[in-house]
Amino acid sequence: MAVQLRVYVPPHPLIKHWLAVARDAATPSVLFRSAMTELGRWLTYEAAREWLPTQEIMVQSPLDNCPGTVVNPQVPMAVVPILRAGLGLLEGAQTLLPLASIYHLGLVRNEETLEPSCYLNKLPEKFDPQTRVLITDPMLATGGSIMTAMSELIRRGVDPALTRIVCVVAAPPALQKLSQTYPELIIYTATIDETVNSQGFIVPGLGDAGDRIFGT
Ligand code: PRP
Repeated sequence: MAVQLRVYVPPHPLIKHWLAVARDAATPSVLFRSAMTELGRWLTYEAAREWLPTQEIMVQSPLDNCPGTVVNPQVPMAVVPILRAGLGLLEGAQTLLPLASIYHLGLVRNEETLEPSCYLNKLPEKFDPQTRVLITDPMLATGGSIMTAMSELIRRGVDPALTRIVCVVAAPPALQKLSQTYPELIIYTATIDETVNSQGFIVPGLGDAGDRIFGT
C-alpha cells in the first residue's frame, strides 16, 4: 500500500483551549506567547508518542530488579524552529526534548509574491540519517516556507519518515504540496483551516503569528 501523508489533529481539551486563545484577536502578545508555548508543549507530547527512540533496560528499585523503558540518548534529536514564528512553539517542545539540538532556520515570505527567502541557516552540513527531526512553525499556508525547510533538511541527509512537523493552523495548499513530495511525513496540528486568502493569510487562522508573538 502506498504511504500517505498523515495529519493528526489531537482531540485534546488543552489544545482546543489554547487554539481558541490564540485565535482571539483581543488576546494580547503576552498571552499569545503563552498559548504558543502550551500548544508547542502538547502537540510535541502527541508527536513524541511514536517517534521518541526508546531502549529497554533493567532498573534496580528499592525492592527488586525490574525492566524499564527509557529515552535512548544515543539517537540524535533535532528541533528546527522556522523563524520567527516557530520560536513561539520552541520552548514548549524543548521542555519535552531536553537532549535535542536546536537548529534555527530563518525564512520570510515576500509580502507580494509570497515566495520565501532564507536569511539565517544554522543547519549542520550533514545530519546523521537516524536523526529524529521536529520542525516547528505555527502556520502552514501556501506551503512555500515548509517546502523550502524540508528541501534544506533532505539535502543534508534527513529522513522524512523520521521527521515530524508541529504546527497550529495547517491549510490545504501546504498539505497538498507536502503530501505530493513527502508522503512519509507526519504532521501534528491544532486545526486545519480551509482557506488561504490572496494575501497569504489563513482564514480564520490566527493572524500574523510572528507579529503577535513579538509585538511588532
Ligand atoms: C509565516 C509563518 C510561516 C509562513 C507560512 O511566516 O510563520 O513560516 O508564513 O506561510 P507559507 O506556508 O505561505 O510559506 P512569515 O514569513 O510571516 O515570517 P515571520 O514568522 O517572521 O512572521
